[in-house]
Amino acid sequence: MSDLRTTQVNIASDVINFGIGQPGFDLLPARLMQRAAARRLDGVDTSFLNYGAEQGDGFFRQALARFLSDGYGEAVDADTLFITAGASNALDLTCTLFTQPDDVVFAAEPTYFLALRIFADHGLRVVPIPTDEQGMNIQALEEALRNERPALLYVIPTFQNPAGMTLPLERRRRLAELAAEHDFLIAADEVYHLLAYTAAPPAPMAHFADGGRVISIGSFSKILAPGLRLGWIQTTPALVRRFVTSGLVDSGGGLNPFTSALVRTALEESWQEEYLVDLRRTYAHRIDIMDAALQDELGDMIDYTRPDGGFFFWIALPPGTDSQRLLAAAEAYRVGFQPGTRFSSRGGLRDRLRLSFAFYDEGAIREGVARFARLLRAQDPG
Ligand SMILES: Cc1ncc(COP(=O)(O)O)c(C=O)c1O
Repeated sequence: MSDLRTTQVNIASDVINFGIGQPGFDLLPARLMQRAAARRLDGVDTSFLNYGAEQGDGFFRQALARFLSDGYGEAVDADTLFITAGASNALDLTCTLFTQPDDVVFAAEPTYFLALRIFADHGLRVVPIPTDEQGMNIQALEEALRNERPALLYVIPTFQNPAGMTLPLERRRRLAELAAEHDFLIAADEVYHLLAYTAAPPAPMAHFADGGRVISIGSFSKILAPGLRLGWIQTTPALVRRFVTSGLVDSGGGLNPFTSALVRTALEESWQEEYLVDLRRTYAHRIDIMDAALQDELGDMIDYTRPDGGFFFWIALPPGTDSQRLLAAAEAYRVGFQPGTRFSSRGGLRDRLRLSFAFYDEGAIREGVARFARLLRAQDPG
């Protein structure tokens, strides 16, 4: 049978799947993009329909640098930016340019499960680094460095996927120092940095890029729309040169020049910033709803830290509960989630699961949590 799907999500309409870590269709900025396209597509300027500048459209990089300078609270130079087709593309290209098969990559345990898929595509060996409530545990990292020489360390410093934790500034600084001492690169996946709902997070890892070890990865997927397939790398001009001279952009030109031209307008007109302000308000509200529903329905059974940003609740289940088995049982309750094992490079974390509040409105969040509570209580022998 032919598959005429247009979107990655493919769930039955009566299922509430909190496993989906992407914005709901109701949030996507169709009108904003329509305005940006109308402004840019004047029928005269054809430049962005040709192969693009290898580093990315210069005007777009300038607008992005201004946007990031505001968002990060520190100056970002357009020369330190390389435009990508999203964070996944940035990570994949980083692996292509800076690793060989069988190299070691250090990754937090838990970590973003699809980064593990990219590392597998490159034949990399993942060594898990334990985390605590402040993210990657630096002492554990130092111990691991006694036994292994990583080519790359992958970290999600702010509002981590899946566990929501944020590395304090001191740990960020130490990470950059260790990278210099032990000669490895840091791929810092900072896609949630601008999705802070209470207080501003510590400076992004990009702040430490001058040392020549940090590749800071950002994306419009979480702040505008995933379908744009648009993101960026921020690093030193020397490392930018490595990306700019890659075979990929030598052949195909800079990535996504057409989309970049439209998003340039959204940045220059402050439409992106306005949209982001609304988005933060919406997500903060969804956190309130999900938190209250979880407390009401399951406060006595589960444990979690309320997120201050990003997309996720990371739930500790009652002892002995296996989230993989729970997922099999969840189908009958028409609810879904991501089981903890998916975020482990070692098949661990069975007693954890991840819920995302990004895809559903408040009514669906309440109903989904009620279903989830019925499911969990039905497993409880007590
Ligand atoms: C930590 C993290 N990195 C990268 C991505 C994918 O980003 P992009 O759409 O820019 O490829 C996601 C999306 O869920 C994510 O959570």
